[in-house]
Amino acid sequence: MISPSDSTPLADLDEWEDDLLRRYPEEKAKEEFRDYDAEARPGVREFYRLNHRYQTLDFVRKKRAEYLPLTKRQMTVWEALEYLNTLVDDSDPDIDLPQIEHLLQTAEAIRADGHPRWFILTGLIHDLGKILCLFDEPQWAVVGDTFPVGCQFSDKIVFHNFFADNPDSRTPEYSTPSGIYEEGCGLDHVTMSWGHDEYLYHVVKDKLPDPALYMIRYHSFYPAHKEGAYDHLMNEHDREMFDWVRKFNPYDLYTKSTGRVDVEALRPFYDELINEFLPGKLSW
Ligand SMILES: [Fe+2]
Ligand SMILES: [Fe+2]
Repeated sequence: MISPSDSTPLADLDEWEDDLLRRYPEEKAKEEFRDYDAEARPGVREFYRLNHRYQTLDFVRKKRAEYLPLTKRQMTVWEALEYLNTLVDDSDPDIDLPQIEHLLQTAEAIRADGHPRWFILTGLIHDLGKILCLFDEPQWAVVGDTFPVGCQFSDKIVFHNFFADNPDSRTPEYSTPSGIYEEGCGLDHVTMSWGHDEYLYHVVKDKLPDPALYMIRYHSFYPAHKEGAYDHLMNEHDREMFDWVRKFNPYDLYTKSTGRVDVEALRPFYDELINEFLPGKLSW
């Protein structure tokens, strides 16, 4: 058992994403970050230690059984945005609406590049699964890089050495490259570590085009979309769809602090967009 204070090493959820920027800086800043692991902030290191220790196949199965019936709440997309926004970011008093702001900035950048409406909507909703935090899930079960469980943990996963403390690493059945899966079986048959990506995917499944669903479900799967790991579990369709996941990533990572957004002015456009694809209350 771990106590609640042990489970919140990050100042807030954004600290994980701010840290991703250190690991994957935009081209111009790349030279400055050579030794990522050594330079990570203590809270981030501790966050990954907990994540890698506790994300086991058994843990994920329990969380899926708890959440995927989607019986926690009924909320519209906008209600979910407002609910997520109650997750206050005390560390940045300049930002009143930190979560809505990140989502609108992502969506607005996608819109500015002339992408289809479903792509813009994907930007708006992609982090709504972080409401898991408001259901008292620890940070390490909401954010962080995701990876398959039930097979060998790739050494391409950040802070790979922390997996030594994960009991699955000592389970022979889970310790071969494909583990409990068949090579090339396709990611839909692979159980991923539990977090906001997988949760939201199940909320909107069947309601958005396939590329949108891949962006939502795998946007934190950095070991695959940035590092090329786990190709042996993918099928051809996954590989095609990961082009979209990679296309989405810069909008997620590099649109923070690109100027403030006027939520009320943007609201009519986004209300219409939500109504087009995801009208009414959704089951969470
Ligand atoms: Fe995310
Ligand atoms: Fe995001």
